[in-house]
Amino acid sequence: MLTWDEESRPALQPALQPLMQTPRDTSSVGERAVFASKSESLAPSTPDSATAPVSARRVNAADKRIINGQTDVNQLVPFKYKWAWEKYLATCANHWMPQEVNMNRDIALWKDPNGLTEDERRIIKRNLGFFVTADSLAANNIVLGTYRHITAPECRQFLLRQAFEEAIHTHAYQYIVESLGLDESEIFNAYHEVGSIRAKDEFLIPYIDAISDPLFVTGTPEADQTLLKSMIVFACLMEGLFFYVGFTQILAMGRQNKMTGAAEQYQYILRDESMHCNFGIDLINQIKLENPGLWTPAFKAEIKGLFEQAVELEYRYAEDTMPRGVLGLNASMFKGYLRYIANRRATQIGLEPLFPNEENPFPWMSEMIDLKKERNFFETRVIEYQSGGALSWD
Ligand SMILES: [Fe+2]
Ligand SMILES: [Fe+2]
Repeated sequence: MLTWDEESRPALQPALQPLMQTPRDTSSVGERAVFASKSESLAPSTPDSATAPVSARRVNAADKRIINGQTDVNQLVPFKYKWAWEKYLATCANHWMPQEVNMNRDIALWKDPNGLTEDERRIIKRNLGFFVTADSLAANNIVLGTYRHITAPECRQFLLRQAFEEAIHTHAYQYIVESLGLDESEIFNAYHEVGSIRAKDEFLIPYIDAISDPLFVTGTPEADQTLLKSMIVFACLMEGLFFYVGFTQILAMGRQNKMTGAAEQYQYILRDESMHCNFGIDLINQIKLENPGLWTPAFKAEIKGLFEQAVELEYRYAEDTMPRGVLGLNASMFKGYLRYIANRRATQIGLEPLFPNEENPFPWMSEMIDLKKERNFFETRVIEYQSGGALSWD
């Protein structure tokens, strides 16, 4: 039985509460607040007019909440969650576009009948088959689901940037497919037609559907847990686990000087995704802090079960993409790696490690994530966007 801690939740103004409970009306709450302020400031009112003074409705940072907040979502400042704003600035500083990456060497290698083995070609096609739709799922989950349930505008700002980055990622995968002249229909339908890919997506889709349902609203322990579960699935298991077999395979290829253009794109995507994952984890932990009643033993057990299921699905994907050893990798190496990553994600959200004593068989992957953009691993070019990004916030 869940208990709802009334004190952890701000009291909703009765007049606004029905609107706050209606997802399609979330923006009208903000609009209403803005219109009210405008009309009041234009009207020849006195401070002691019958209506509450404008200042009474000004946003107080302390009143902000990640979910179920009642402060105006149109007012970015005053900041409460400065970490969210800082992460937003960091993602903007890493801006890149797929067309900037030269694909000529990849195209020549792909077209050379002796350029790649059949197993290497299978990895590339399976990889793209998963990723060309995966980032659309991630984008739709944010835009149609998570975004409208988050009531802290600095967190929404990050989600807007993240949604655009998901579009860039889908663009990057499409750009690779087009550059190599792959069968678009085969690749874009892989999520229907390839069992190991379909199984991952079938695992995810219910968690998008649950929170993008127009009738779904937060504000009860059950609904808030549904949102929190969806956020954990996407941050920890989708971006934090389901991407890692594919990323490791393509980056391993790049380390062997094969498909270096695709590997460079994946490297940028990996860096973006690790920021999405970290932001999602911060958001999850802040929701836990503000709503401690949600983190029940039964809920934790359910999350643990989802982690185990996700590790199994990603391992099956590893087996399907690597029926034999290739590029110095094999599926069983990924069993340890996925367990290692799952432990890390679990502890990041305050759960016990699921598989104690697992070690990272691919330590070089951490270097890939931490790499500075201007010092590209593959040394194909130097880029620098951050000329005007030296803003400081005190
Ligand atoms: Fe992405
Ligand atoms: Fe992402």
